Amino acid sequence: MSETLENLSSETRQFPPPADLAANANVKADAYEEAAADRLAFWAKQAERLAWAKPWDQILDWSNPPFAKWFVGGELNIAYNCVDRHVEAGNGDKVAIHWEGEPGDTRTVTYSDLLKLVSQAANTLTDLGVTAGDRVMIYMPMIPEAAVAMLACARIGATHSVVFGGFSVDALATRIDDADAKVVITADGGYRRGKPSALKPTVDEAVARTGRIEHVLVVRRTGQEVEWTDKDKWWHETVEQASPTHEAQAFDSEHPLFILYTSGTTGKPKGILHTTGGYLTQTSYTHHAVFDLKADTDVYWCTADIGWVTGHSYIVYGPLSNGATQVMYEGTPDTPDRGRFWQIVDKYKVSILYTAPTLIRTMMKWGDDIPAKYDLSSLRVLGSVGEPINPEAWIWYREHVGRERTPIVDTWWQTETGAIMISPLPGVTAAKPGSAMTALPGIGADVIDDQAQSVPNGGGGFLVLTEPWPSMLRTIWGDDQRFIDTYWSRFDGYYFAGDGAKKDADGALWLLGRVDDVMLVSGHNISTTEVESALVSHPSVAEAAVVGATDPTTGQAIVAFTIPRGNVDTAGDAGEALIKDLRNHVAKTLGPIAKPRQIMLVAELPKTRSGKIMRRLLRDVAENRSLGDVTTLQDSTVMDLISSGLKTAK
Ligand code: WT7
Repeated sequence: MSETLENLSSETRQFPPPADLAANANVKADAYEEAAADRLAFWAKQAERLAWAKPWDQILDWSNPPFAKWFVGGELNIAYNCVDRHVEAGNGDKVAIHWEGEPGDTRTVTYSDLLKLVSQAANTLTDLGVTAGDRVMIYMPMIPEAAVAMLACARIGATHSVVFGGFSVDALATRIDDADAKVVITADGGYRRGKPSALKPTVDEAVARTGRIEHVLVVRRTGQEVEWTDKDKWWHETVEQASPTHEAQAFDSEHPLFILYTSGTTGKPKGILHTTGGYLTQTSYTHHAVFDLKADTDVYWCTADIGWVTGHSYIVYGPLSNGATQVMYEGTPDTPDRGRFWQIVDKYKVSILYTAPTLIRTMMKWGDDIPAKYDLSSLRVLGSVGEPINPEAWIWYREHVGRERTPIVDTWWQTETGAIMISPLPGVTAAKPGSAMTALPGIGADVIDDQAQSVPNGGGGFLVLTEPWPSMLRTIWGDDQRFIDTYWSRFDGYYFAGDGAKKDADGALWLLGRVDDVMLVSGHNISTTEVESALVSHPSVAEAAVVGATDPTTGQAIVAFTIPRGNVDTAGDAGEALIKDLRNHVAKTLGPIAKPRQIMLVAELPKTRSGKIMRRLLRDVAENRSLGDVTTLQDSTVMDLISSGLKTAK
């Protein structure tokens, strides 16, 4: 039995770039040829977009795989590249961050302001005894100080480790210990869903538990009551009083920049280590190429949180290295109402928007009339990241947000890859809804079968990266062996991403979710993503999650959890009729082998805090087991809701 995926769906719609965008694009089709002719020379040219204090001697040292060194011998300072050089070039008055607090308060941070703040924070960290190579934890709301804290660490060569502000004491303490950090930068709290949400108590408990932390630097954001210990220092009494000048020193290209923990599905979180020169080269280039950023005219907005890699690479390092003007928003998309995102786009005339499929599907569920109320004519490029985007969500995004004009870039990458790897180029690619299309110039990707053979067009299998890339993770912090075992052992010489993928008839790549989520039905490998997309293509469905449940006849059987759209009647017989209709719809779209055994209509789906569906919990429901660990759920009441309100049919 082959482990290769079936290629079920066929999407034929295709959207070429608008002519004016194509004509003026930062990156054109020749980039692919240039990179194919000499991949290392191509990346060296992209590295030259940055300011280096000392040039490199060697572009890539791959003599000890999988441990890569990029731009060997080169030296640079990341904060200098993201801030000082724009001020030196006369752009000090340019807005770096239009910050919008959830309650509606705003701040405008220019590149000169940023230089002052980052310099002050660098001086304060130095006063607190932080030196190059030390680790600093950052546990912050989405306020400009979060970016300042990261850049200040980078400026003095301290390695930052940002922990998402929604994570627990336990998660924070474990990461402090694993990184062996000595300082935490935090805030009293931040605003979420209309209320101050405390952060400091979590830090207090985590710090008390680990005993490693010497100082805690606290930004006052909400003004809420906080307990105070002798380790604590207010940001406004230290950073804001510090000298605003700081001479940035250059660091080695391979100097550790940050550790970011990914939870994965099992085991202890992995501390993904990224370094300096290669990381900044690829985040900067991909931000320029994939979003077509025009620094003088665009207003860019990435809706991610700084606690995820998307926030690191496409709020802080990519955009700021390119001198972008961007929006940063503190809160949730439905505060004070469900139009908040579109109101922000309208207010700041956002031209490039980068968000996640989970948000797009939520907006679909909330209704077309909401975005319709706002002027979204400033938008010219839309991006998606985090999960496969279903074709119907893609089309909705283009129609109701992009108003049929804007290209959509579906960007595939991972915490481990550091930067975008597979994506359309907005001025080049005729994109297909639901496909991340092709590897970017300078990137090697392929789909292989279980024998490590490249599959032909039309085939499916495992996504691998075939060449080292500048922003690749360098190791798992403190665990080289786990780095080798996790990513480099399954297929000799290839980086195994853990995702299933297929190539369509034209060779375009379709991501099919984590291989752990692939279902084996009567000997056929079927992707959860394809069945979900088929369900979402039905006019009555807003969202769907599909799992394989043990089945006595077929090995595994397809079980779907489906959220109907707001206006759909599901009471009594209408619900039964809808379920029948949906099963037939999937069979018609993908073939009888993909017909779900069971469809359940639900009001919500269990998601992680970064918006990914937790299929593991749905499998527990589908197999009538007691639920596994629910601590990483965004909303822990969701599972009760699902278990109690099930409407199922066989
Ligand atoms: C996994 C990595 C990359 C930043 C956010 C997530 C999935 C990500 C896509 C996409 C299909 C995608 C993959 C990948 N994924 N982007 N455009 N199409 N799948 O980072 O938490 O490290 O997760 O997210 O499964 O392996 P992450």
